[in-house]
Amino acid sequence: MTQENEPGLRLNRRDALLGLAAVTGVAAAGVGGVAVASDWLGPPRLTASHFADRFEQLYGRHDGFRRNHAKGVAAAGTFASSGAGSEVSKASVFASGTSPVIARFSLSGSLPDVADDPATVRGLGVLFQLRGGQQWRTAMVNIPVFPVSTPEAFFEQLLAAKPDPATKKPNPAAMSAFLAAHPESAAAMKIIKAAPPTAGFADSTFRSLNAFLATDSNGRTTPIRWSLVPGQPADPPDPGGNAHDKLFDALVEQAGRGPLSWRLVLTVGAPGDPTHDATLPWPADRRTIEAGVLTIDHLLTEAPGNARDINFDPTVLPDGLALSDDPLPRARSAVYAQSFNRRAREPKSPSEINVEQVIHDEH
Ligand code: HEM
Repeated sequence: MTQENEPGLRLNRRDALLGLAAVTGVAAAGVGGVAVASDWLGPPRLTASHFADRFEQLYGRHDGFRRNHAKGVAAAGTFASSGAGSEVSKASVFASGTSPVIARFSLSGSLPDVADDPATVRGLGVLFQLRGGQQWRTAMVNIPVFPVSTPEAFFEQLLAAKPDPATKKPNPAAMSAFLAAHPESAAAMKIIKAAPPTAGFADSTFRSLNAFLATDSNGRTTPIRWSLVPGQPADPPDPGGNAHDKLFDALVEQAGRGPLSWRLVLTVGAPGDPTHDATLPWPADRRTIEAGVLTIDHLLTEAPGNARDINFDPTVLPDGLALSDDPLPRARSAVYAQSFNRRAREPKSPSEINVEQVIHDEH
């Protein structure tokens, strides 16, 4: 599947580019059918292909795989809306009822066969298929805030975090220099370090981090962020376990015993809460809305036609949800499209996580 024949994305890409043009005052350009916005990051010129190139330069090119969050497993299930989210958004996903979802659990990083490490950021992408053909796509992570506030900083941080071939760890001097230049990232890292990761995927809370704007049926707009809050503990880790795929294996085994669930919780921003900066948490006492329950019924080995071939572009939003002034989602949209277009044209090899194999090995 290519970017071009995904109807939701074609619309979205145009919208995103229009949004970029509006923000920068510079016309955005499509080059070779790939979303590349000109000057969207200001001088020096930084484009979506620079980002994709940087992932490849730092971690190698892994044909057919995502340039980030390369290791993953596909999933399918449903979202049962409570109807309560309609208070802030007219999006049909928040009306009472059930929508099918396609999802993908992942580990951040560009290596499709990296060894599972509980400290690696975990991701969950979800596509809600809504009545009337609309979609909501969101890609969330298990950390409380994002470590950077701008695409430029993310680009710099990638280089600073480059593992030293000798130690396999980032060069501390490069990381210190990055944090000295980015006090907002230093502050975010403190918040992230104070919230150690849970045991596994099944007990992870996945958060949007970026703020979005919800509009209700009366036209009233409210800033929101959202989280998926787990309904189960994770399987206790094997005390001696150091298996290469231990986090994914545990998830596959747990999902094989019955559905896994997460509550979708909307956090309602108050006037003055920052919407432009994903490094800044909102005060802990902000009102929340229990919008419904996401149920994952089964996991699937990545394969043609499942979540492998979806771009969980966070700017694909249903009517009733819109982008805020946060610069990250627009940049993410362009970079994800670049990654998607590259991987869609490359030869494929099997994914590290083979669900049938994990279940077979368990028995
Ligand atoms: C400028 C900032 C960012 C850049 C450049 C970036 C880059 C990327 C890229 C290249 C991909 C692979 C896309 C594909 O091939 O489909 C990806 C996937 C992903 N990103 Fe980001 N990302 C950014 C920010 C974020 C943020 C803020 C979050 C979460 C709040 C996030 C969560 C994810 C997740 C969960 C996936 C995997 C989705 C899937 O399974 O397809 N990213 N990112």
